[in-house]
Amino acid sequence: MMNFDYEKLKTVGRTSAKALSYAQSAISPDKKLSDIAADIEKYIEEQGFSQSFPVNLSIDNEAAHYTPTFNDQRTVGKDSVIKIDLGARKDTYLTDCAATVCVGSGDNRLYEASAKALNNAISLVRSGRKVNEIGREIEKTAVSYGFKPIRNLGGHGIGEHELHADIFIPNFDNGDNTALAEGSVIAIEPFLTTGIGQVIEGDHLQIFQAISDRMPRSLEAREAFSIINSEFSTYPFAMRWLIKSMGGAEFRARKAVAELLQIGDLEPFPVLVEKTGGIVAQAEKTLIVTKDSCEIVT
Ligand code: CO
Repeated sequence: MMNFDYEKLKTVGRTSAKALSYAQSAISPDKKLSDIAADIEKYIEEQGFSQSFPVNLSIDNEAAHYTPTFNDQRTVGKDSVIKIDLGARKDTYLTDCAATVCVGSGDNRLYEASAKALNNAISLVRSGRKVNEIGREIEKTAVSYGFKPIRNLGGHGIGEHELHADIFIPNFDNGDNTALAEGSVIAIEPFLTTGIGQVIEGDHLQIFQAISDRMPRSLEAREAFSIINSEFSTYPFAMRWLIKSMGGAEFRARKAVAELLQIGDLEPFPVLVEKTGGIVAQAEKTLIVTKDSCEIVT
């Protein structure tokens, strides 16, 4: 990638990795998810960075995209499996990383297997490596522990501005023999489950991203539109961020988002849940593909 500032990306990556360890230590039973998310996002901001996307705290059968609501009263359960997915950003440089915290009797082997699948996958990375070979390794590791990889979630390329760029890195051998290119930035993210290995959309919807700039009609939607453009740009944002920027006017913000969705200005990212209710764990790192291996960024 021409003019791509790898050093800058690595600086962002170091902060993401630190934020992820901080996040792991911030999780404890009975704590409110909204407090945990706010603490993590504040940590990233205090280091002088923005968020690649709202902190995701997805629990048990939720695989991804649970971010707390504005006044979320949900707490960490005594026995639960919590995926923390986050990323620091500086200007157009994005990172993406995740870990799982198992509270109480939450199945720690599931996370062990996910972390192992991630390490095994990373050990295969080099320029020219085919993405389905990485997927095959992830599946092999999952199966060796008695779990299944989630087939309709996977890793991805990371471009400037873009969290999910061009390449898809499957969590099983999907037959895609696209080769990794030297110098490309990718995130590998095995999601392992005790279920059948498929996610579907659930009801919780709190993450959105601007995808078009058609001017909405109503006053509240115009206000939201201008906040989204100036504060969140085309990066994913949380409803709670928008409500805060609209002075806590929750009803107005929700009405505005409904209108923006309706005219196609926003893409919604609803929570993704395992189809059969299986528990899900996830591990993820961002890395740079090199000629013979890779450099881990987060
Ligand atoms: Co990712």
